[in-house]
Amino acid sequence: MRPLDRLPSLKLKLGTVIFSAVVVVLAVLYVGIETGMTRPQRYVVALVLAMVMVQLLSRGMTSPLREMSRAAKAMARGDYSQRVRATSQDEVGDLARAFNTMAADLAEVDSMRRDLVANVSHELRTPISALQAVLENLVDGVTEPDAATLASMLRQTERLGRLVAQLLDLSRLESGAVPLEVTTFAARPFLEAASAETAASRRQVSGSAVPVTVSVEPAGLALTGDLERVHQVVVNLVDNALRHSPASGAVAVRASAAAGGGARIEVSDDGPGIPAEEAGRVFERFHRLDTARSASGGGSGLGLAIARWIVELHGGAIRAEPNVPTGCRMVVDLPKVAP
Ligand SMILES: Nc1ncnc2c1ncn2[C@@H]1O[C@H](COP(=O)(O)OP(=O)(O)O)[C@@H](O)[C@H]1O
Ligand SMILES: [Mg+2]
Repeated sequence: MRPLDRLPSLKLKLGTVIFSAVVVVLAVLYVGIETGMTRPQRYVVALVLAMVMVQLLSRGMTSPLREMSRAAKAMARGDYSQRVRATSQDEVGDLARAFNTMAADLAEVDSMRRDLVANVSHELRTPISALQAVLENLVDGVTEPDAATLASMLRQTERLGRLVAQLLDLSRLESGAVPLEVTTFAARPFLEAASAETAASRRQVSGSAVPVTVSVEPAGLALTGDLERVHQVVVNLVDNALRHSPASGAVAVRASAAAGGGARIEVSDDGPGIPAEEAGRVFERFHRLDTARSASGGGSGLGLAIARWIVELHGGAIRAEPNVPTGCRMVVDLPKVAP
């Protein structure tokens, strides 16, 4: 039981404690005189009762502070599970609630960090194991070093290199170490170049001949932002769209003007699409819907995480929507960024 928990401030609590003690002392002195107690008796009884009163009333007033210092020590040892009882309505209670929120946030960050390390190790281990197996066979003389084997080893090495480059990029973006070099550029040539480039490299890798069409409305639409970074976003989205399109499909890139001088870029395909419950999660690092297929197709699950960081650095937003009648539509809202 914490008797003063409901009082809204520490000052009021202290006032109540002192006031009650004074009342107890006065009452004892008065009653003592009436009942003929000696002066020392009155003083001792008053003192003892006042102390009992203070003990009772101030129960639980400072215990959250002690709990917090205990929990903080546990956190320093890496245990983020401790919480403080935060029932009082005063400043100590506020502090305890803030402390609990902080502890929960730290616990989340800690578990995200663990997940990330686990994911990164797993992603790196897969191509390394594949390489190692092939190399062992070559060294043992089980297989001869033919062109196909070497090409597959080169692909694994490229995949490793790409993964490490993306991880570095993501960590630079997240730490805010990349200043945006904002310029204004025309949307149409920019989108056409990025789409053509991506389609060409997709064709080289998987032989896919899915066409990419670009439409810009109004024709002279200008985009503001870091050209290199926005290019990275478009390439990622178009590459995803091409990879998920059926052979007979088509990918459409559309740009349109938005209110306030901003622009909207949409990339749509007619592949399997992204289920609504996964629409938010695909932007998380290493989150993939089709793990088996992406692993063989060289996907790292980092493309959309990087895209989201870039778009948010521009003050914009990105989301995945279902495309009508089928497929996925990625919508990027880019505000007009001041250079
Ligand atoms: N256009 C799309 N159609 C269907 N699923 C998609 C599309 N784009 C992305 N996804 C899903 O989102 C996941 C994350 O995408 P991304 O971060 O680019 O990783 P990656 O392409 O390396 O797998 C993909 O693995 C895929 O499951
Ligand atoms: Mg991708």
